[in-house]
Amino acid sequence: MINIHSSPFTLNKEDFGPHFKWGVTVAAYQIEGGHDADGKGFSIWDVFTQQKGKTKDGHHGNIACDFYNQYQNDISLIKELNIPNFRFSIAWSRILPQGIGEINQAGIDYYNRVIDCCLAAGITPWLTLYHWDLPYALELKGGWTNREIIKWFEEFVSICAKNFGNRVKNWIVMNEPVVFTGAGYFLGLHAPGRRGMKNFLPAVLHTTLAIAAGGRVLRQYVKDANIGTTFSCSHVEPYRNIERDFMAVKRIDALLNRLYIEPLLGLGFPEKDLPVLKGIKKMMQPEDDKNLIFDFDFIGIQNYTREVVKNSWLMPYVSASLVKAEKRKVPLTTMGWEVYPEAMYEMIKKFSVYPQIKKLLITENGAAFPDELVNGEVYDVERKKYIQDNLKQILRAKDDGYEVNGYFVWTLTDNFEWAEGYHPRFGLIHVDFDTLKRTVKDSGKWYADFLKR
Ligand code: NOJ
Repeated sequence: MINIHSSPFTLNKEDFGPHFKWGVTVAAYQIEGGHDADGKGFSIWDVFTQQKGKTKDGHHGNIACDFYNQYQNDISLIKELNIPNFRFSIAWSRILPQGIGEINQAGIDYYNRVIDCCLAAGITPWLTLYHWDLPYALELKGGWTNREIIKWFEEFVSICAKNFGNRVKNWIVMNEPVVFTGAGYFLGLHAPGRRGMKNFLPAVLHTTLAIAAGGRVLRQYVKDANIGTTFSCSHVEPYRNIERDFMAVKRIDALLNRLYIEPLLGLGFPEKDLPVLKGIKKMMQPEDDKNLIFDFDFIGIQNYTREVVKNSWLMPYVSASLVKAEKRKVPLTTMGWEVYPEAMYEMIKKFSVYPQIKKLLITENGAAFPDELVNGEVYDVERKKYIQDNLKQILRAKDDGYEVNGYFVWTLTDNFEWAEGYHPRFGLIHVDFDTLKRTVKDSGKWYADFLKR
């Protein structure tokens, strides 16, 4: 029994087991830049960020960290940090500028170079097929609200599978569907900036069908593939110890944690606990029930915090509202998210309940805090502690008999944090956005040392 509360408690890589996958995660639009380089088409994020007032200070990813040109340097930094697994995403519009049809060979060549560079450095690539940057040409045809997108996505996935599948064995079909459909098609806070149930419900159905379809395409074309998909999740707790808030927890939990995983596992959409989802049924076609299901080799969960909710009749559809961390006077990250490592334990426990999940990995976890720059060194005590405390919660879960097979830090370098622009810094490596100079932070040095031991 590992006593995580005894101090000093030193984290040991060995305690996580010999097959545990250690890694770091990034996403194309957040780091690459090269938004119009070598025949790339525009994505919804290229267009969204050009519109006034959509992101803090009008920040955009046109250059971002310039990973497009500096990938060799960044991959050597991953090696320097002793990180054996690198998860990155493919910009769909780099490969298919119009989303479908004509292939841009320069885009394929670019990802081939990135993959080969990883392999030459002894780093295992993990490919995310969709991390939110839909080709804008497809958004013009309705994007995720158009049922045709299932076919468009299959075309994209098959091109990636055929071109990269001989060297890439670890695949993630989609990243955090709740966030890109919720923020992008319901709240209008992320690209493409659409709002309302009329956009959200079809987007949810088509996204779920596309995730399962993408899994099937990979299975067909990639020999020995390890196929997964990833979900955001938050531990949800009631604000008050009253029945109404417990019921609010049920609804928010169905929305944040169960909406996608359950239909993919064959359990259907959680409409009993969130009745507004019944609208999805009306759009379903006869084969959909079957086609929603895919047998994934692993599921990635990504946890950052917990949510505290209360009943609120004023909120349409969910009749619940989040009680902001700031109001609760708890420790916060730059994102305004509560620092609450126990949520990691709770999420592992929660997802372990599904017997259909074969393997569970933490495919993202990390925190935005301001860095302290002193004489060319970057100190980030809070980030280091955040990561360590989350790892302790993983050990606690393992100790209680739950299986966890990997942990990927979000993220390698400070980068474009969507609507928040470059303000929140999540990286193990600091980026000076004027010069693009990289400096390994204290947290990065700690992770390197931990992984070496
Ligand atoms: C989840 C998303 O996958 C990633 O793109 C984002 O930057 C981090 N969480 C932090 O918000």
